[in-house]
Amino acid sequence: MSARSSERYGGTAIAIHWVTAVLILALFVIGWRMVGMQLSPAKMEAYALHKSIGLLVLAAVIFRLLWRGFRTPPALPDAPRWQQHAARATHVLFYLLLFALPCSGWMYNSSVGFPLSFFGFASMPPLIEADQVAKDTWRAMHWLLGWMLAGLMGIHIVAVLYHQFVQRDSVLQRMLPAFDIWKRRQA
Ligand code: HEM
Ligand code: HEM
Repeated sequence: MSARSSERYGGTAIAIHWVTAVLILALFVIGWRMVGMQLSPAKMEAYALHKSIGLLVLAAVIFRLLWRGFRTPPALPDAPRWQQHAARATHVLFYLLLFALPCSGWMYNSSVGFPLSFFGFASMPPLIEADQVAKDTWRAMHWLLGWMLAGLMGIHIVAVLYHQFVQRDSVLQRMLPAFDIWKRRQA
């Protein structure tokens, strides 16, 4: 094993990873359900919740990128070069999408001219003026980026399962909270 291969992700990185993963799953469930709902107060609430959680993910991703500047993530354990590159490319693409997707939602909301509130606490400014053409473009963009993220999540999960059950390395363990404590209890 390489010198850094036994390193784990730090507690902050692990917490952000799993909290954002859960929030993103919730965004997909709410997003897909809300578009098909009849116009009603429940639909408006679902939209408001979706937008607030989406903004929270945007904030979490910006924080994670800044945090990455202070704490470099651990290298992959003894993986071939192509896997190192694939993992790096996946992470870069994830961060690009996780930034662009909520921004596209915000752009869409601005182009429709809807007010935007963050969980009712703060009113968020529009990014652009209301515009019919821009509205259709940003709506399509949000839909497309959403499907790209869903595809990347699928690849990411298959890759992690491959590491866990075929390569049997420590890739997943390093991202699990308190794994060291659990392992010591098993011993
Ligand atoms: C919404 C779903 C998910 C998203 C958006 C996501 C995103 C990411 C990102 C961006 C990283 C890179 C972290 C960094 O170095 O800054 C990462 C790493 C990782 N994720 Fe996920 N993830 C998701 C779900 C999952 C799930 C379900 C699993 C477990 C099956 C998982 C396991 C891991 C592992 C083990 C790593 C570390 C990989 C490595 O060291 O290269 N993730 N994830
Ligand atoms: C990572 C963050 C986000 C994810 C994963 C996400 C995902 C989705 C998904 C899957 C849909 C359903 C698309 C469809 O089937 O037509 C959707 C719709 C929508 N999202 Fe997001 N979203 C995110 C962030 C945001 C943000 C931050 C906003 C606004 C500030 C937003 C506003 C909307 C709106 C208004 C719709 C409805 C579009 C329509 O009526 O066709 N989203 N989103």
